[in-house]
Amino acid sequence: MASNSVQGKIAIVTGGGSGISLAFVDLLHSNGCNVVIGDLQLRPEAEELVSKASKDAKILFKKTDVTKWDELAALFEFTEKELGAPDIVCPGAGIFEPSWSNFWDDTETNGYKTVDINVNHPVKATRLAIRSFLKANKPGVVVHISSIGGQTTRLSVPIYCATKAFINHFVRGMAELDEREGIRVVAVAPGLVRSPLWFKENPEKLKSVGENDLWIEPSEIAEVLLAVTQDPAYKGGTVIEASGQGRTRRVEVFNDAGPPGIGHAAGANMSLEEDVHAMLAKERRAKL
Ligand SMILES: NC(=O)c1ccc[n+]([C@@H]2O[C@H](COP(=O)([O-])OP(=O)(O)OC[C@H]3O[C@@H](n4cnc5c(N)ncnc54)[C@H](O)[C@@H]3O)[C@@H](O)[C@H]2O)c1
Repeated sequence: MASNSVQGKIAIVTGGGSGISLAFVDLLHSNGCNVVIGDLQLRPEAEELVSKASKDAKILFKKTDVTKWDELAALFEFTEKELGAPDIVCPGAGIFEPSWSNFWDDTETNGYKTVDINVNHPVKATRLAIRSFLKANKPGVVVHISSIGGQTTRLSVPIYCATKAFINHFVRGMAELDEREGIRVVAVAPGLVRSPLWFKENPEKLKSVGENDLWIEPSEIAEVLLAVTQDPAYKGGTVIEASGQGRTRRVEVFNDAGPPGIGHAAGANMSLEEDVHAMLAKERRAKL
């Protein structure tokens, strides 16, 4: 398969301060790609990577709240000024219905931040990327991080799953840009990944992970992200599921077979769903 190396290219990775996106930053950099991380902060392992980055391929950090469109635009401006127009954009920042943005723990004042971070940000980043590629008159790749949650769903995390289904379909909607404009918009949809997402804030979400679920390392997802970024055989509009143990599969828009076997999601333990029903029973009693 023909491959476009990332060597000497320029990438913007949001959420690159942690987890899967950080593993992708690391892999891009070790393949000679210059990277700008847009994130609220860097975890210690990300700080270490930034400080050790070689001079041949840079890693820069621009503090960015991706829910603020002016900050997202400033991330692109910073990249263009410091390194040049990006060739690769990965809007990887995402949240998994933390207690402060959760369908079941809603308040009367806060909006659904999950939608701002998991939907509005990758959509706006795609628009900014297209503008930047065209202005620089060069081809480009936007590689999204979806989730197998975009195919399956759960009562305990309904918004998260819906945001990822949105990304799958949004990416498909961009397919035509590949042949006509030289811009590939694609997505990787991982299964259950051992990243800080699961272990910070409200760790009770770990209750949904069962003994038979398979943890995938962020580095394995980074390899899939790199393959999809480099190889034009992954045409625009493609969503590639990555369910661990080297298994990948194209997610079809019609009559898709669905994720096979273990590693497809945190699916073995339904106790969080029972917690939701218990909470709803209390609400029902409170109304009597
Ligand atoms: N961990 C999994 O099991 C899993 C599975 C499938 C898909 N994903 C997706 O992968 C992506 C990366 O998740 P991860 O598991 O590496 O999580 P993570 O928590 O390790 O990293 C997420 C990063 O996003 C950043 N972020 C969050 N809100 C932000 C904001 N407003 N502005 C800027 N940055 C912000 C965080 O600071 C963090 O660095 C997400 O889109 C997630 O939905 C994760």
